[in-house]
Amino acid sequence: MRAAPVPEMMVAPAFDPAGSSRDAIGASTLANKGLNIRHGTILTLEDINVSFDGFKALTNLTLYIGVGELRCIIGPNGAGKTTMMDVITGKTRPDNGVAYFGETLDLTQMSEVQIAQSGIGRKFQKPTVFEALSVFENLELAQKTNKSVWASLRAKLTGEQQDRIDEVLHTIKLDASRNRPAGLLSHGQKQFLEIGMLLVQDPQLLLLDEPVAGMTDAETEFTAELFKSLARKHSLMVVEHDMGFVGSIADHVTVLHQGSVLAEGSLEQVQNDERVIEVYLGR
Ligand SMILES: Nc1ncnc2c1ncn2[C@@H]1O[C@H](COP(=O)(O)OP(=O)(O)O)[C@@H](O)[C@H]1O
Ligand SMILES: [Mg+2]
Repeated sequence: MRAAPVPEMMVAPAFDPAGSSRDAIGASTLANKGLNIRHGTILTLEDINVSFDGFKALTNLTLYIGVGELRCIIGPNGAGKTTMMDVITGKTRPDNGVAYFGETLDLTQMSEVQIAQSGIGRKFQKPTVFEALSVFENLELAQKTNKSVWASLRAKLTGEQQDRIDEVLHTIKLDASRNRPAGLLSHGQKQFLEIGMLLVQDPQLLLLDEPVAGMTDAETEFTAELFKSLARKHSLMVVEHDMGFVGSIADHVTVLHQGSVLAEGSLEQVQNDERVIEVYLGR
């Protein structure tokens, strides 16, 4: 179980969201784990602007992710997808705009470490597992990097942590490889291990940037099953170009273009949107 956020990360909400249209986005039936998600919104981005030397990577980007939702983000290269994840994880500070995790955690005021500890896990495109260590050791290490105040308090729960690692090994289908050096895994298995390294930290929001790039068809299919099984218990934001994959997992798709939301809806809705066809899908 994730610990409550430490007090210094709790900041007053900048707005009163009561009665806003965001209420309908997600069913807030999750165990709260200390994060305030009473309006069913786990992530709020409003009017986010990011510029690099005058070039606008994000322009008034506004986007909400519901609790337990599996959201796919699509859009042409350079649309700002990775920059958006950089803003959410504190790697890039927006010039202005609102970024909240739950109702009370202001992401623009938190460090990257605080954001990770508060329950946002991110997987980059390139797997970064420790090749010389075993699969199990990689998961163990990932679990211990959560150096929150509470981690030390929970240190005695080794049995629980062990169980969680076993559970994750099963989820990512690497039970049989638990003692193998991670360097001997296939590319796809390394990707699954890295997802496992996020899962042992029990993040409430998972950010996944092009997770099936370079995977075989079978691995892509398994990833789709895996993500669907993680949704509801976790909220997922998945950036992906593989439309077959997107179609197999997404209930809701956001199309980014030139740093803003161009369209949002079911995959079918956005695929039939003239502007989306124009800038991204082609004719
Ligand atoms: N650190 C940076 N410095 C300058 N330009 C950047 C930086 N990061 C991203 N960009 C630019 O911002 C735009 C959006 O990039 P990115 O978020 O990586 O798009 P996507 O992930 O959708 O392909 C691109 O034009 C990219 O060149
Ligand atoms: Mg990118």
